Amino acid sequence: MAKKYGMGIIGAGMIGNFHARAIKGLPNAELISVCEQVPERGQKFAAEHGCAFYDDLTKFLNDDRLDVVTVATPSGLHRDVAVAAAKAGKHCIVEKPIEITLPRIDAILEAHDKAGTTVGGIFNMRYEATTKLLKQAVDQGRFGRMTFGMAFGPWWRDQAYYDQGGWRGKWEIDGGGAMMNQGIHTIDLLQYFMGPVKQVCAFTRTLCHERIEVEDTSAVAVEFASGALGTMACTTSMWPGHYRVIEVAGDRGTVGMADAKFIFWQFAEETEEDNRIRAEYLDFPKVSVGAANPSAGMTPDLHRANFADFLAALDEKRQPSISGLEARKAVQIILAVYESARTGKPVALQ
Ligand SMILES: NC(=O)c1ccc[n+]([C@@H]2O[C@H](COP(=O)([O-])OP(=O)(O)OC[C@H]3O[C@@H](n4cnc5c(N)ncnc54)[C@H](O)[C@@H]3O)[C@@H](O)[C@H]2O)c1
Repeated sequence: MAKKYGMGIIGAGMIGNFHARAIKGLPNAELISVCEQVPERGQKFAAEHGCAFYDDLTKFLNDDRLDVVTVATPSGLHRDVAVAAAKAGKHCIVEKPIEITLPRIDAILEAHDKAGTTVGGIFNMRYEATTKLLKQAVDQGRFGRMTFGMAFGPWWRDQAYYDQGGWRGKWEIDGGGAMMNQGIHTIDLLQYFMGPVKQVCAFTRTLCHERIEVEDTSAVAVEFASGALGTMACTTSMWPGHYRVIEVAGDRGTVGMADAKFIFWQFAEETEEDNRIRAEYLDFPKVSVGAANPSAGMTPDLHRANFADFLAALDEKRQPSISGLEARKAVQIILAVYESARTGKPVALQ
């Protein structure tokens, strides 16, 4: 019989709640515990989700029933808890961005490597049916010579979002703005489809928010290692916010994806499947995930699929699809964007 994994969550905030609901639907996992630094929040969460509450990380990690930890603390606080989890022998699934600088990410990867535990990231949008279909078309070479990739996250956050205090909009903990916090899903998908980025040339601005350190608007030109070109733009400054658009193109095909729908699916060499795909997925999204509110339109289903792959990887003794190294890629691209915006020069990725 397949192993049943004891899972615990660090951070009982907005996304921690989705983690709990995602874990509950997994046949081979049980939510054991939550670790939260604000006791009232942790106790309420534990009562709601029927698990143990700890306000002490060491005690949380020393619980023998715990096999896998999910990290749902603010972004720049992922390293310390993920490293502590490795030292306690616990596998770890870390929210996006896995961390906010490359040395901090590498500290997590090294700690898990040394401990022999597995670490993975979260990019829930990768588990959409349309993402899988588009990736398959890329892998089958259906686009011919890849020529262009576009990622557009035209989102909106009001001033109250940033004014609620805490970590949002601060370099030290958020690690960036419209790109690092909101747009990272879109950037990850672009590199997933188009392959590694060779260099970027970027502008970033803070155009319509006050009292934030980070950018709310970005525009980037990209060259991929394949030689294809592209653009990336992510904002929290475009009221009212609408669906994310990704376009992948070559000299034999173009696909446009808007959130979890296709707005264009066209190939020079048609297959029988293409009509079925268009019939099922060609549409404009009615509810746009994340466009105007961090949890708008979100369900736990995609996180559940992300976690299910991680647990299957443990069973099968392989790396999860979104390994720590895979989760690192989008952060590396975004850090190059920030460097380019700062220096006014193109920045090559190593
Ligand atoms: N995958 C997604 O779609 C998605 C969506 C939203 C947020 N996120 C990511 O999830 C993370 C958390 O975001 P959020 O919106 O839930 O934040 P939040 O502020 O709502 O929640 C964070 C929680 O962590 C707690 N915390 C902080 N440090 C802690 C520590 N050392 N030990 C225990 N608890 C601690 C805080 O008290 C808070 O309750 C961020 O990295 C964010 O980028 C991912």
